[in-house]
Amino acid sequence: MKRIKIAHVFDRATELVGQEVCVKGWVRTHRGNKYVQFVALNDGSTIRNLQIVFDMNNFTDEQLKPLTTGSAMAVTGMLVESQGKGQTIEIQARELEVYGTADPETYPLQKKGHSLEFLREIAHLRPRTNTFSAVLRVRSTLAYAIHRYFQERGFYYLNTPLITASDCEGAGAMFQVTTLNLNDMPRTEEGAVDYSCDFFGKPTALTVSGQLEGELGATALGAIYTFGPTFRAENSNTPRHLAEFWMIEPEVAFIDIDENMDLAEDFLKYCIRYALDNCRDDIDFLAEHYDKELVNRLESVINTDFVRLSYTEAIDILLASGHKFEFPVSWGVDLQSEHERFLVERHFKRPVILTGYPKEIKAFYMKQNEDGKTVRAMDVLFPAIGEIIGGSEREENYDKLMTRIEEMNIPMKDMWWYLDTRRFGTVPHSGFGLGFERLVLFVTGMTNIRDVIPFPRTPKSAEF
Ligand code: 4AD
Ligand code: MG
Repeated sequence: MKRIKIAHVFDRATELVGQEVCVKGWVRTHRGNKYVQFVALNDGSTIRNLQIVFDMNNFTDEQLKPLTTGSAMAVTGMLVESQGKGQTIEIQARELEVYGTADPETYPLQKKGHSLEFLREIAHLRPRTNTFSAVLRVRSTLAYAIHRYFQERGFYYLNTPLITASDCEGAGAMFQVTTLNLNDMPRTEEGAVDYSCDFFGKPTALTVSGQLEGELGATALGAIYTFGPTFRAENSNTPRHLAEFWMIEPEVAFIDIDENMDLAEDFLKYCIRYALDNCRDDIDFLAEHYDKELVNRLESVINTDFVRLSYTEAIDILLASGHKFEFPVSWGVDLQSEHERFLVERHFKRPVILTGYPKEIKAFYMKQNEDGKTVRAMDVLFPAIGEIIGGSEREENYDKLMTRIEEMNIPMKDMWWYLDTRRFGTVPHSGFGLGFERLVLFVTGMTNIRDVIPFPRTPKSAEF
């Protein structure tokens, strides 16, 4: 008999009751007595377990003994309305096949309610828990929503390189990529590492952003988006930073910073709405177990206009607040998470888009304002998260861009291809980057970024 997924059994219950079905999955619990036994079966297609009832007139103890927590089985039997409470339907088992067993002495996911910290140590098995299967389904649905959003609006999906010779954000936080023998480096006559012997003939690293190549795409295709892994060797061990994270970077020709903000706001609301509409079981489960305010928070973000504010106004608000911050505030400082969250959670009580940052704390490519001090940057700040999006209008003027590149000592010869966008048919254009895991954090209500990516990469940790 053809297997049917447990999610579909629940979805199509009215039609299937009274019929034989075959389901396959992993045992969550097994209990009962010598007359009747019950297995709660989960196959990953839904947070809900399907109850399998074994009438012990038809099965032996010996047959059911291997069905311990974590073991895998297939069962065929009649789908019926449940007599017991706690579930609406169940399967009366007729035929059982046991696949792999899971020794109760060694299978680590015995009891419910393991701590998230413990589960990080067994990240290879944690997708089998309710929490992580819910998070991973939400993550997958959000990825789909993102593609849908852009595809439906005529953006082209552009794949930008992961190995690169340029540092987009200029933060120097790159993982070097080399095939040179670290124990026996070829040297130039001056004693420096001789990269002409390296695989690419020059120093290369894993990308921190696909933006620069994204701009090449936008100035040809009109509107593109990237969606891929990015890498940052920042040594920041925080609940919001990963060394390997996924970023979505739309880049659009002929739009300015205001239209860029409109896009960011509409895009975020679409994704959150899509998750609420398509992952409600999982979000309700996460809300119940981790964050009672979750659904309210998601709804409120969808139903409110984001505040738009300049960096200078934000600094004034923070100074006037009288609040004692760990990192003191003054015009020119980079905002810390505590400042961002004060603005969003305490002052405005809704998402904030900050613009007009000092040029010194932002990347070289951002469009310079007439005041000579600020740039058309925009950061979208979210409750519980802080910065979720960073973006800007780009400096499209060749001379101004060149001056900034020189001021910031960015190696020119690596940038020639980027500068060509400003030499040939340059146009106003804008874009932004959404940290995918920060969006998943927000939508799932989880509080540590390590718990919303299957296999987190953080300082001193690259297991699995
Ligand atoms: O603000 P960032 O550094 O902006 C850029 O990389 C631009 N090139 C984007 C663009 O304009 N196309 O990073 C963008 C977003 C941040 O707002 C944050 O959500 C996320 O990426 N992010 C991280 N997420 C997890 N771990 C890290 N270490 C992150 N660094 C940035
Ligand atoms: Mg940023």
